[in-house]
Amino acid sequence: MGDSARPLLQACGIVKSFGHVRALRGADFDVNEAEVVAMIGDNGAGKSTLVKALAGVHQPDEGELRFLGEPVVLPDPTAAQRLGIETVFQDLALAPDLDPAANLFLGREVVKPGLLGKLGFLDSNAMAERTRSAFKDLGANVQSESASVASMSGGQRQSIAVSRAATWANRLVIMDEPTAALGVVQSAAVLELIRRVRDQGISVIIISHNMPEVLEVSDRVEVLRLGRRVARFRSRDTSMDELVAAMTGALVQEDA
Ligand SMILES: Nc1ncnc2c1ncn2[C@@H]1O[C@H](COP(=O)(O)OP(=O)(O)O)[C@@H](O)[C@H]1O
Ligand SMILES: [Mg+2]
Repeated sequence: MGDSARPLLQACGIVKSFGHVRALRGADFDVNEAEVVAMIGDNGAGKSTLVKALAGVHQPDEGELRFLGEPVVLPDPTAAQRLGIETVFQDLALAPDLDPAANLFLGREVVKPGLLGKLGFLDSNAMAERTRSAFKDLGANVQSESASVASMSGGQRQSIAVSRAATWANRLVIMDEPTAALGVVQSAAVLELIRRVRDQGISVIIISHNMPEVLEVSDRVEVLRLGRRVARFRSRDTSMDELVAAMTGALVQEDA
């Protein structure tokens, strides 16, 4: 888009099939440093599949990823996390039997240094404190820090997943429909969190079907249709009508 923005993560010509279903048919996608990009498209357009390729969950059949301009292979989600990429998947991966703090820290529990060194015990006070501040930041309405996640509503689980991603990402947060299960107040808090993450120089990819929300929170929009990128816009230069036209195929950009 003709300015000095540096590409952070790029998908180039990604092809991905599941049996006979061709979910991605040469999909491109770009997110620049310190920007919020909305990825939009009709159900089945391939958004979740593309996000999973960007997050190391799916291996592309063809095409490549680039990180800061260099080709990169992400064999698993840990490889993406090592690059500072955290993802909130549409099908949330929380551990239902653990409490919110344990979920926030899943896989990176804070260990108190001590006589036992790395074999020390979990610092549950530090984890609870970090959890409280993460939820407070998010305006997340999690009443009990010790209740298991299984007992929580979809919205509360979503808030925990978003908190977890925003807590650990230092380059890019990817959120696949983060507000779909949320009420008005929690949705507004997620949008506010996205702005704050961006203001720290961290990029965000958000998938959403809520066009006013997309236009409000994003710097740019990229549109996926039938497994390909078909249009891209600067958010301040586009409209709901134009976005819907691109999603349905009524508007086509040749150079998208
Ligand atoms: N694990 C899978 N196995 C089989 N088909 C899949 C799988 N994941 C996605 N698909 C198919 O790929 C297509 C794109 O799906 P998806 O990426 O979830 O689209 P979106 O997120 O845009 O709604 C759909 O036809 C979907 O049914
Ligand atoms: Mg999806």
